[in-house]
Amino acid sequence: MFDGNWCALLLLLVYYWSPSWGLENGLARTPPMGWMPWERFRCITDCVKFPRDCVSEVLFKRTADLLVSEGYADVGYKFLIIDDCWMEKYRDSITRKLLPSRDRFPSGLKHLSDYIHERGLKFGLYHDVGKFTCMFQGPGAEGYFKVDTQTFAEWGVDYVKLDGCFTENEKMDDGYREFGRALNETGRPMVYSCSWPFYKSQPNYDDIAQHCNLWRFGPDVTDSPWSVLDIMNHYRRHQNTFERYGGPGHWNDPDMLVLGNYRLSYDASRLQLAIWTIMAAPLIMTNDLETVRPEIKELLQNRHIIAISQDPSGTPGKCVLVDENVQVWVRPVTPLNALGQYSYAVAFVNTGDFPSCPLCPQTFQIKLDDLKLENPTGYLVLNLFNASETLGRFKGKDVFTTRINPVGVTFYKFTAAAFY
Ligand SMILES: *[C@@H]1O[C@H](CO)[C@@H](O)[C@H](O)[C@H]1NC(C)=O
Ligand SMILES: *[C@@H]1O[C@H](CO)[C@@H](O)[C@H](O)[C@H]1NC(C)=O
Repeated sequence: MFDGNWCALLLLLVYYWSPSWGLENGLARTPPMGWMPWERFRCITDCVKFPRDCVSEVLFKRTADLLVSEGYADVGYKFLIIDDCWMEKYRDSITRKLLPSRDRFPSGLKHLSDYIHERGLKFGLYHDVGKFTCMFQGPGAEGYFKVDTQTFAEWGVDYVKLDGCFTENEKMDDGYREFGRALNETGRPMVYSCSWPFYKSQPNYDDIAQHCNLWRFGPDVTDSPWSVLDIMNHYRRHQNTFERYGGPGHWNDPDMLVLGNYRLSYDASRLQLAIWTIMAAPLIMTNDLETVRPEIKELLQNRHIIAISQDPSGTPGKCVLVDENVQVWVRPVTPLNALGQYSYAVAFVNTGDFPSCPLCPQTFQIKLDDLKLENPTGYLVLNLFNASETLGRFKGKDVFTTRINPVGVTFYKFTAAAFY
């Protein structure tokens, strides 16, 4: 009996049965952008000795103001995320709710959340799936998923980073799944950032991508070019997996952008930004926005690069060629031309260990065919670090030449040409 009701039911079933392996809560359609204090401010809790640097509402209000006044919010850096060390050591004895530190967040987190929202920003908060948080060893979520997700919803949280310390390996998988369900049941949309794969020797990305909007897959980033190269190489070793699982709503997270601190040169700063963009990684800065040098601020706010990062196709790129100390990283992006050919962002990396001259700039030449850039109408090439530099049209047989600084990168957009 195929009357209207049956049809509706059938459609509903098809809808719910349609193969969809990724978390679909409508959030993080492009990689999240924002700020998190961790690599720069760590777990400084002594506001008497370190009033400027301690993890407190003063730091977050100052940063909210700077995200807006310095132009970061305008180009997309919207999530202001509190990391570990925000809480009291004990839950409320009656309600069992988490308590923000009375000394450092005297106005409470609802107040801070309102402050952040009033500036057009989004509010992120850290928690841990196990018994305690990683650094501060404040109360973890274990046994309190419902209470804590409800509390987060009441505070107006928009993004949750869930760490994975102090839990048994067997409990962890269930923990991440159930916390995600509890978030969903609050009815408040919250981006769900999981540290889950970081704690697993053999992460099951089918499972992880079904429950999380983004996931930390590698080691913690530190303020050093070697750390940036280390994370790049980690991604490279697993890039076919990462390429498969990254996409709108679910992203591989190689950790924060350390640009603007102490130990990345200008070239290494460009390198981190370019490769994180190729990976379709979240762009979460960790720095002191008041002291970011102007040329680094300009990099962080480069609109051409951010457009690549936020490309609607959401396809992660990868390293397609290694030639001695040069790596070529390629990400397909829009627009497609009438022949259905993608455009590409291409980063040429000099890892700096060239045998005859480890720290020299290096000239590199390649035929586009060798990068599988084979669009018959060719590509119009733009230098992403300097948008006034257009390099003309290149076809598959043409040789592209670039000169790359050591522990540095050159970064171009190859736009598929529309006409012959
Ligand atoms: C909860 O999950 C359903 C099904 O995946 C989804 O449609 C909905 O948007 C989610 N709601 C929230 C608040 O995450
Ligand atoms: C950017 O490119 C233009 C055109 O090639 C050039 O004149 C200018 O010096 C470049 N700017 C920088 C900062 O390199």
